[in-house]
Amino acid sequence: MKKEFKRTLVTTALPYANGPVHIGHLAGVYVPADIYTRFLRLNGEEVMMIGGSDEHGVPITIKAKREGVTPQDIVDRYHTIIKDSMAGLGISFDVYSRTTSDTHHAMASEFFRTLYDKGEFVERSSMQLYDEKAGQFLADRYVTGECPHCHNPRAYGDQCESCGTSLAPTDLINPRSALTDTVPVMKETFHWYLPLDKWEDYLRRWILDGHKEWRSNVYGQCKSWLDMGLQPRAVSRDLDWGVPVPVEGAEGKVLYVWFDAPIGYISNTKELCPDSWEKWWKDPETRIINFIGKDNIVFHCIVFPAMLSAYGDGYQLPDNVPANEFLNLEGDKISTSRNWAVWLHEYLEDFPGKQDVLRYVLTANAPETKDNDFTWADFQARNNNELVAILGNFVNRALVLTQKYFGGEVPACGELMPVDAGVFDEIRSLKESISSNIRDFHFRDALKEAMNMARVGNRYLQETEPWKLAKTDMARTATILNVALQITANLAVAFEPFLPFMSGKLCGILHLDSVNWDMLGCDSLLAAGVKLGEPELLFEKIDDAAVQAQIDKLNRAKEANALAAWKPEPQSADVDIDTFGRCDIRVGTVLECKRVPKADKLLQFLIDDGTGSPRTIVSGIAKYYDPEQLTGRQICYIANLPPRKLRGVESCGMILSAVSSDGSLVVIGPTGPVAPGSKVG
Ligand code: MF3
Ligand code: ZN
Repeated sequence: MKKEFKRTLVTTALPYANGPVHIGHLAGVYVPADIYTRFLRLNGEEVMMIGGSDEHGVPITIKAKREGVTPQDIVDRYHTIIKDSMAGLGISFDVYSRTTSDTHHAMASEFFRTLYDKGEFVERSSMQLYDEKAGQFLADRYVTGECPHCHNPRAYGDQCESCGTSLAPTDLINPRSALTDTVPVMKETFHWYLPLDKWEDYLRRWILDGHKEWRSNVYGQCKSWLDMGLQPRAVSRDLDWGVPVPVEGAEGKVLYVWFDAPIGYISNTKELCPDSWEKWWKDPETRIINFIGKDNIVFHCIVFPAMLSAYGDGYQLPDNVPANEFLNLEGDKISTSRNWAVWLHEYLEDFPGKQDVLRYVLTANAPETKDNDFTWADFQARNNNELVAILGNFVNRALVLTQKYFGGEVPACGELMPVDAGVFDEIRSLKESISSNIRDFHFRDALKEAMNMARVGNRYLQETEPWKLAKTDMARTATILNVALQITANLAVAFEPFLPFMSGKLCGILHLDSVNWDMLGCDSLLAAGVKLGEPELLFEKIDDAAVQAQIDKLNRAKEANALAAWKPEPQSADVDIDTFGRCDIRVGTVLECKRVPKADKLLQFLIDDGTGSPRTIVSGIAKYYDPEQLTGRQICYIANLPPRKLRGVESCGMILSAVSSDGSLVVIGPTGPVAPGSKVG
């Protein structure tokens, strides 16, 4: 039996303010949440969408340290970028606040204190990793090391991003401090733990018995956590950035970021409605929906519900947690630290006025049931073949024909023929399917059905051909164009949740002051005689150059990354000066350079070494140079290596080259002219 609700509270995962938001965040959380919320608003339901920045946690402090600024500087910077860019995309938060706000600190602190006073925590000592050089404990991402499961050498102290396992810092093999790159020691500390094991049966009943309708990825993850058995989880950390633990003797300790962040949903609600926030959280007739990405499932389905239940006082658990899988970018995992992302604020700059294109592509490709890939080629194709060719084309034809035959005024509608009435039947049936898909969190399918409504319009014009009838039967032409314009008005309503900018533009042209979902399916939204605004193209083609520029940008990021990730090899063991002195390095001039037949790695050099009888050296650099590039250049070589035959050619010495970060070889030579045979040392 479906429960009846009075109102809906939509929460959206609070993005970490350690970077801007990218298309992965948008496709996973904010675009679907916005579609859902806008849809409920159009239906006149009582609904609020809550957002805000997650401003605590170790990644923020690490970034601050690297840049030599304070954590507050970092979160101020990214909170502003995130907030502005989300508004730019039309994500219609009722509140977008932050977890450094006073309201939040007070509420998170009070929440902890209440659980503490109720005896809901257990206090435990444990040995934790400690950085002696920095003088601090190493929580979460302050430690890196080898993953004990998949042996990825760069796992973090809270999670391995390679295999997705969640870890404790002490699980890592060969841990190192991310602060000082030293090897940490073990030192005793104590923390408060939430005994999740105590809530296991309760959560099992609530989710596994009570919410079989949840998405299978969400249900499945919860089941596997519950089947593994829940363990107590530490809810405090030894850090100086966060909400201080409000208990005596807890100096130097703050709340774990995953303890305070979800409370942010509540404190942001309180900030928006200081007097009525409780009805949104404590009334069983409020439907709470958490929009999140799949890496957040355990926190929203296990940890936060246990916290809320431990607190009691009427707090309600979510009715659904429609978590999405991940969106990849051009075949690779999106990564903030590797700059492998399409950043929203940059998209808005590079594609002004094209917010709806991104919203469309991210919804059409939403990773609802499996990971999906965003590619710029698909972005271009969906814009050109769907938005321009189907939706834009229909609306444009309806408006331009009206302009041409009726001077831009809505023509009078005569008697409807079956072909006309059939259009509205189809719209009404699509309306039902869009509605149920949105209510079931199937946004891709909902969007497909909305697009089918535009197809209905195109087919209608194709079948009725008003441009032919206009020569003989103006009254029938008027009716057809009236119907086409009514379809256009219906599209303005149907697309409002998905493409609000297009919808707004269309409403402007049609003089529809406000829209609501009940209007959908109606054949008389526009009155005859109304003078329409100038027809405007709703979408325009995106050309190859614009898309190529984006691909080039990504490739530059990839190169910059390879360079930044590169570290020189560790220094070799010491040699004494005599050993070094026995190595005879000289400068020579390349007289001739050619490829060695049947050896694709080798180049053969004839070198003027000052002796009057040039020497031959064979070198494995053919992959990096064309022979002409080196002819005439001066290079350095080791002169006193014993001769060696390579592919039948005797090589007398070795040409020196540097190995660059991508593994390619660069030949070394003097920076000014030197007599051939000069010694290097
Ligand atoms: N900042 C977290 C992330 O980006 C999400 C926090 S959601 C909340 O993964 F529930 F804690 F708010
Ligand atoms: Zn791993």
